[in-house]
Order: sequence, then structure tokens, then C-alpha cells
Amino acid sequence: MPQGDALKEAARRLAAEFQAKMEGPQGGVGTFADHALLGFIAQLEQLDPAASWEDSVAQLSSRLEGLRLALQRLQLLLHRRAQGRFVDYQERTQTAPAGLYGPCDIGYFDMVMSQGAFDCLRWKGMPLFKTVYDFALYPMILWALKPRTVIELGSGTGASALWLADLTALFGFSSHVYSVDLQQPAVRHEHVSFIQGDCRTIDTVFADALLREAAHPWMLIEDAHVNVYGVLRHFHAYLERGDYVIVEDSASKQDDIRQFLTQEPGGYKVDTYYTDFFGRNATCAQDSILMRA
Ligand SMILES: C[S@@+](CC[C@H](N)C(=O)[O-])C[C@H]1O[C@@H](n2cnc3c(N)ncnc32)[C@H](O)[C@@H]1O
Repeated sequence: MPQGDALKEAARRLAAEFQAKMEGPQGGVGTFADHALLGFIAQLEQLDPAASWEDSVAQLSSRLEGLRLALQRLQLLLHRRAQGRFVDYQERTQTAPAGLYGPCDIGYFDMVMSQGAFDCLRWKGMPLFKTVYDFALYPMILWALKPRTVIELGSGTGASALWLADLTALFGFSSHVYSVDLQQPAVRHEHVSFIQGDCRTIDTVFADALLREAAHPWMLIEDAHVNVYGVLRHFHAYLERGDYVIVEDSASKQDDIRQFLTQEPGGYKVDTYYTDFFGRNATCAQDSILMRA
């Protein structure tokens, strides 16, 4: 964690970066985070310049509790940023302190409500089991990656496969989505193949030739929640540099992910641009938006 003068310098660099970003690509418009962080840094700059910010805020009255919390956030943010965008899973998950709430900056209830409090998100009227964070992240990942092949394990109602296919078609990419579930959903789409299959025996689901010939880049989405290690192991043989693997709802899948990644040192990097876009691990894919390196 940055402290003392190093913290002040890192915060000033961040403030300069935010100013440049606001005045440049954002056309003079700041985000909530830009305004909040610049405001907090400005408040911290008003404190005794001879003392560290940590010492100064520790002596503030409880009326200024907000500034104490802001300093904690700022330190976590700068610490994470210093690791760079593409981070080894081990390095990232061993870092302590990680987030405000364990590995995340999002509290448990905020996370569980993010799929909808009384109903789930919908695409074309069909239930789509994504958090609002992931609903925003996927279009950005798709646009940047331009996948020729999307493989989704766990079709649900079929809404997510249709959503992914609709987005890629809207963006003008030539992509195909393969979506696997125990039962095929009722819906159809010209760019989606719904495949009846069991991820517990993933080697029986796709023909070897199909996976060898499917165009890259790939986006592989694990959302069936079974045999996660086996699934990662199976697809590893077919993945190429630059492909993405997203393991959803991964808080409870960390043992499988760790076991797999330990066997492939340097083979995958966590893309923290996406995992931390809205705060550390503000996504259902905790530490598991992975790029094949
Ligand atoms: C969380 S839902 C998928 C949600 C969907 N991807 C979405 O975002 O809307 C999980 C799906 O995994 C499927 N599933 C469970 N066990 C499976 C298995 N052994 N093989 C394939 N699919 C399985 C379930 O039938 C269920 O539809």
C-alpha cells in the first residue's frame, strides 16, 4: 500500500491523469469517480503539508470520518493500479489488503442485488442472469476483443446467447455463438448454435475438429458451474494468445481456477481493466476475466 510521500506523489499523478482524461477524451465531462477522487485529493492537499496524510486524517474529528474512508479507498486504488492492467492470478489474489470487502470493493448485498432485487435483468423480455456490472462490461469486452467464436457453457433461458449474438451483429462482427446446456432452450438465432451437452463430460460436447477449426479470437464463458477445473483444462488445448476466458459467479470456484492456473504459470493474466472497472472485482467474474497470454 502506498504511504507517506509515496502516497502523495501517486495521488498527484492520478489527479493529473484524471484531469487530462477529462479534458481530453471525455470532452470536459467528468465521471462521478473523477469528481469524487479529485475532490478528496484536493481536501487531502489542505492538510498539514509537513505530516503524512495518514497521520493527519487519524487526528481529524469524527465529523471528518468521510475523509478517513476516502483515504483508505484512494490507497487501495493506487495500490491496485500500480500492479498494472494484466496481472498474474497468484500475485493478485495473494495481495493483502485486497478490497474493502475481502476480494471486492462491493459489499455482499450490493452484489446480490445487482442482478435485480425483485426480478432479473431481461433481454428481449427473457430473463438474463447477469449483474448490472457484467451487463455493462460484456459489450466493452466484445467490442475490444471482436471474437469470431463465443462459447458459452450454461445457456439458461437462451437470453445470454442471444444477447451476445445480437451485440456482435450490431457491432458488425462476423461471430458465432455456441451455447451448451443440459437441455436446449426454446429460442433460436441465426448466429447461435444451442448444443445439448453435459459439462461434466466436456470432452464429449464438442467435436475436436470443430474446436480446432473455430476462428479466433475466442470468448469462452463458463457459466454452468460444474467441473470448472475440467472445463478449463479441456479448452486450454484449443485456446490461442489473446483469447478470453470468463469464469462467472466465481467466488466459489477459486479453488478450481487456482489449481488450473498454477499448472499454467504465465499462461493467463487477469484483465483488471474489466474486473476492477467499477471497483475491485465489481463483477461476478471475481479475478476471472482472463486473457490467454
Ligand atoms: C446460471 S445459468 C446460465 C445463465 C445464462 N448463461 C445467463 O447468463 O443468463 C446455469 C445453467 O447451467 C446449466 N447447467 C447446469 N449443469 C450443467 C451441466 N452439467 N452441463 C451443462 N449445463 C449445465 C443449467 O441448466 C443452467 O441453465
